[in-house]
Amino acid sequence: MSFDILVLHSDRSTGMNFVQCLQEAKRQGWGKDINIIGLSSHPLRMQLCKNDATYLFDEDDTDIVKHVGRIEKDIGKPIDLVYETKSAVYMLDISKLRNRLPVFLPPHELVEVFEDKFLTYKHLSERGLPVPETHLVNSPEDVEAAFRSIAKNAVWVRETKGQAGLGAFSASTPKEVIGELTQRNGWRHHTVAEKLPINTPNTWEDQLSSDFFPGEMVTWAALYNNGQLIGSQVRKRLYWEHADLTVSGVTGYSGANMTVSRRDVHDLSDKIVRSFDWKPHGAVGIDYVADENGKIKLTEIQASRFYTSTYPLALLGLNLPKLYIDVFRGKETCNDAINPCPEGMIYIQRFGAESVMIHRDTILSELSSGTSRPKFAAGSLGNSSHGPLKHEF
Ligand SMILES: Nc1ncnc2c1ncn2[C@@H]1O[C@H](COP(=O)(O)OP(=O)(O)O)[C@@H](O)[C@H]1O
Ligand SMILES: [Mg+2]
Repeated sequence: MSFDILVLHSDRSTGMNFVQCLQEAKRQGWGKDINIIGLSSHPLRMQLCKNDATYLFDEDDTDIVKHVGRIEKDIGKPIDLVYETKSAVYMLDISKLRNRLPVFLPPHELVEVFEDKFLTYKHLSERGLPVPETHLVNSPEDVEAAFRSIAKNAVWVRETKGQAGLGAFSASTPKEVIGELTQRNGWRHHTVAEKLPINTPNTWEDQLSSDFFPGEMVTWAALYNNGQLIGSQVRKRLYWEHADLTVSGVTGYSGANMTVSRRDVHDLSDKIVRSFDWKPHGAVGIDYVADENGKIKLTEIQASRFYTSTYPLALLGLNLPKLYIDVFRGKETCNDAINPCPEGMIYIQRFGAESVMIHRDTILSELSSGTSRPKFAAGSLGNSSHGPLKHEF
């Protein structure tokens, strides 16, 4: 009998990365019984999906139980796992349906905290964990008070729930913030935070090192099984691609990610996830930004699903989606694979170009020579001098 996984919003980058990882594992002989089904609301974009089967659905019809029922009728058996690839209201809705759908999620009370960036902040700041000072604003007076308390030249405003920089902008006066929040009716669901020094002009040599410099973005992606770490990896996000398309410069589309083997980031992240009342279970990720002293501060916890860029990690040997399914099915996996990927591997992507995986040393030597040659696409990594790990985790 097949094991059928349903990927929601499978025609978006996060879903596509997740499915690419599973298909890569299947090509290598894993999960012969696994059937990957995806939902898509776009008859053209769904042509890009690599699901074994993709079902078209009407995005305005949010009755997921009904969609699942339709697919189950079609395949003649129950769906075994539903995986949501979008945050906020989508994740909360799926979490609330856990009695009717098979999901692999944290307890619902925790999903509520992780999906709300202010609740996450409150929990962590009360425990002395590193976070930028943040205020939930319910009125113009709250904005004035936040500016007085933060006492810096600029603040960072954003929605409490969402992804890809939803509602984010930088401001240097209360008037700007009040005007914008009034216009968008944003009271009670926006925060005003200390602005971390993003856009600091760090040199390429600094950015391509494993140290952290002001404003750099750091991410940690992990998978747990009832309190036991399965695997985790730290990366630096080197820049947002298409940053000119949004007011904040945040697009949710990483231009380049580089693996860094920072055990201290793993240890801090592990301590953070264990500060909640649970045995960590399933997919967990954390985003950080480095402050003026290069000390990282947490801006969000992304539990319940993986970040978008899972495929590059799979190319480097850490296939988190495959392990996620194995854990859910109670199969034997690796344990404690902390930063297993080779260090300094950079995955570079941009619309219109084939993605490339390259080691930082190549870039550093090109920086000094001032010339470059065409690179292999990431999928043909085996041909490059920095091939994939011999050992798969
Ligand atoms: N306090 C802050 N100061 C400056 N930039 C921030 C701050 N918080 C978030 N950002 C920027 O927004 C990006 C996205 O934030 P993140 O917390 O990952 O939320 P999401 O991915 O849901 O938008 C960060 O990588 C960073 O570039
Ligand atoms: Mg994020």
